[in-house]
Amino acid sequence: MSQRLTAQARKVPEWCVYIVGALPAPWLFWQALTGALGVEPIEALEHEYGRLALQLLLAGLAVTPLWRLTGVNLVKFRRPLGLLAFFYLCLHFLVWLLLDVQILSQAWADIVKRPFITIGMAGFLLLVPLAVTSTRKAIRRMGPKAWGRLHRLVYVAVGLGVLHFVMGRKGLQYEPLVYAGILVVLLGLRLVPRRR
Ligand code: HEM
Repeated sequence: MSQRLTAQARKVPEWCVYIVGALPAPWLFWQALTGALGVEPIEALEHEYGRLALQLLLAGLAVTPLWRLTGVNLVKFRRPLGLLAFFYLCLHFLVWLLLDVQILSQAWADIVKRPFITIGMAGFLLLVPLAVTSTRKAIRRMGPKAWGRLHRLVYVAVGLGVLHFVMGRKGLQYEPLVYAGILVVLLGLRLVPRRR
């Protein structure tokens, strides 16, 4: 069963994942423009992009435990998932900067003075070197060991992203805690020994 699923996944071209994964971006933007996202379209768009980014990051972190536990190998999708997550984070950031805050000095003040924004920014910045070094050429140039060490930063970045989500909501709310729980489970599963 796991071999069949792995073989089927191998047939899906990477570019397909990029196209399907990127489609919600213009769709959500269009919905915001046409009022389908409610009375606060900018805030709603910002939230949708942020949530999608986090979901894709968590999906990327689920690839290895899934392989270890079930034998289903979706490793070829890890890079597209990571890059799509980064793409949505850039949109999340740009909606915040260009449509929400709009004033550069105010944006800087928010980054410095509002802890949940500072933490989100730190998570975002940590993901920049990972996105830049996501090519096969970069892996060859850095060597797999150094590359692997650098890419472990993804755990810190996702941890900061989840914390940012928890802190961004007023009071302790159910939804961000679910994301935090999923992250804890995914991290815990990495402790499970590899299948032979
Ligand atoms: C790893 C990086 C980040 C992740 C994973 C992330 C994810 C999220 C998520 C999931 C939400 C909540 C959406 C909701 O309430 O439904 C959110 C909200 C928000 N994020 Fe981010 N974000 C990140 C970085 C940033 C950065 C760099 C900024 C801006 C500098 C930012 C600004 C905001 C703002 C303003 C909100 C709205 C909070 C509110 O008023 O409810 N985020 N983010």
